Amino acid sequence: MLELRTPIRETVKALGQEVVIFGWVNSRRDMGKLAFLDMRDSSGLMQVVLVPAELSERALGLMSDIRLEYCLKITGIVNKRGEKQINPNLETGAVELLAKDIEIFNLSKTPPFELGDTKNIHEELRMKYRYLDLRTDRMRRNIILRDKVITFFRDFLHREGFIEFETPILTKGTPEGSREYLVPSRLHDGKFYVLPQSPQQFKQLLMVGGMEKYFQIARCFRDEDQRGDRQPEFTQLDLEMSFVTQEDVLALNEKMMIELVKTVAPEKKILQVPFPRISYRDSMEKYGNDKPDLRQDKTDPNELAFAWIVDFPMFETDGEGGIQAAHHPFCMPHPEDVGLLDTEPLKVRAASYDLVMNGYELSSGSIRIHHRDLQNKIFQLLGIPDELIQARFGHMLEAFEYGAPPHGGMAPGIDRIVMLLANEPNIREVIAFPKTGDARDPLMGAPSEIEEKRLREAHIDIRKK
Ligand code: AMO
Repeated sequence: MLELRTPIRETVKALGQEVVIFGWVNSRRDMGKLAFLDMRDSSGLMQVVLVPAELSERALGLMSDIRLEYCLKITGIVNKRGEKQINPNLETGAVELLAKDIEIFNLSKTPPFELGDTKNIHEELRMKYRYLDLRTDRMRRNIILRDKVITFFRDFLHREGFIEFETPILTKGTPEGSREYLVPSRLHDGKFYVLPQSPQQFKQLLMVGGMEKYFQIARCFRDEDQRGDRQPEFTQLDLEMSFVTQEDVLALNEKMMIELVKTVAPEKKILQVPFPRISYRDSMEKYGNDKPDLRQDKTDPNELAFAWIVDFPMFETDGEGGIQAAHHPFCMPHPEDVGLLDTEPLKVRAASYDLVMNGYELSSGSIRIHHRDLQNKIFQLLGIPDELIQARFGHMLEAFEYGAPPHGGMAPGIDRIVMLLANEPNIREVIAFPKTGDARDPLMGAPSEIEEKRLREAHIDIRKK
C-alpha cells in the first residue's frame, strides 16, 4: 500500500477527520472559483470540493489541470453536506471531501467514449479499450456478480464434499459437436494438441481414479460460429459424481441453483419449485424447441423460470445418412431402450438432461456409460471405424476395464448464468475480456500473424490463399 488510504465508501465513517483517497476523476464541474470532482475508486464514488483558499500550494497549482480519468491522490477533510446538497442516490451522498492536497499519480488522455452508460457505444470500440469500459458502473457490477457466482459455487460444492481439480488445456480432442482449436507441437513434428471443448473425458477418468466428487471452474474452447450466448472460450462449472442416479444429479443441481439465486440475486423470484420436468419429446411438441421460455410475465426482469428437459434422444441424423451423438457419445442409453440400439437407434433415449431457464440452455449432463463393451458399441453405431475408435478413445475403453464406477454429472455454463442474473442481453457483458462475434480480440489484436521463424519451429507452412 502506498500509504494509509481510506476506500471512498468508508469515508462516511470518518466525519470531520482528515483522510487520503486514491482514485480516478469521474466528473468535474466548475462553479466560479470552486471546482467539484466526483472521485471514483473500486469501492464507490464521492464528491470532492476544491476551494482555492483551502488548498496547499501544490494543489492550487494543479487545480485547473485536472481532467477526467486522471488518477489522483487527494488528502482532505470529510464534511457533512448541507441538507439540500445530500444525494440519496449515492452511498457517500451525505458527505463530501474538502480537498487540502492533491497529487497526480498519472494523467489521462480523453477517453474515446464517455464512461457512463455504454449501452449505445460501438462494441468494437468498447472492446478495444476494455480497460476503460471496465471502469463503468455496469461492467464493475457484472464482474463482481460473476465473482460472487463463482465463489458461491466453490463454497457450495466444497460443503457437499466435492474436490476442485484442474485438468489439462493442452490435450486431445473430446467430442462435444464443435470444431476444435489446434495447437502445433514444436517437439513433435506434424503433431498437434487440441484445446478441450470440455473436460468431459478427464472428469470421467477422475471417477475411474476413485475421486468420486469432482468439480472444476473449467475454461472450454470451441471453434464455432458465435452468437449472443456463445463465445469461443467460455467457462463451465463442470461437475461429476460416482455411484449416483440421474435423480441424484438433478437434486444436487436444483438445490445449488435455488441457493445460488437466494445468495447472489435475492431480488429474483423462481417461478416454480421443484423445477418442472418436461421430456424432450413433449417440449418439442408443445413449444417447438428444447429450451422453452416458461416465464409468466416476460416483462418482469426478476422472474426466473427454470425447467428440466429430460430423456433426450441418444442419436440424431447427421444429414448424410448416418447418425451422430445428440449430446456426446459417453451418455448412457435409457435402460428401457437398450434393446432398440441395434434395430432403431434413433428411437433410443439417453439418460441425459438439460437445465433451461427463460429460454436459454443453462446446463447439460448425463449418466455415463461405464462398461467397455457398451461404450465400444456406441462408437461403432456412430460409424467410427475400429482403428479410429482405438486411436481416439482407446484410453477410455481401457480405463473402463479397471473397475470403472457408475457415474454421471453435469456442466452449468457460468457465463450464461451470470448474464441472466445480471439481466444482460449477451454473455460478452459478463466476461472481462470477451471476443467479438467473429472471434477476435480487438484489444490484444488476436488472432495475429506469426513470424516465419516461429512458424518454422512449430513445423508450420502457411498455404497462402
Ligand atoms: P454442453 O456442450 O451442453 O455439455 O455445455 C454445457 C453448458 O456450457 C455452456 N456452453 C457455452 N457457453 C458459452 N459459449 C459457448 N460456446 C458454450 N457452449 C456451451 C452452456 C451449456 O449448457 N461435457 C458436457 C457436459 C456434461 O455432459 O457433463 C458439455 O460440455 O451453458
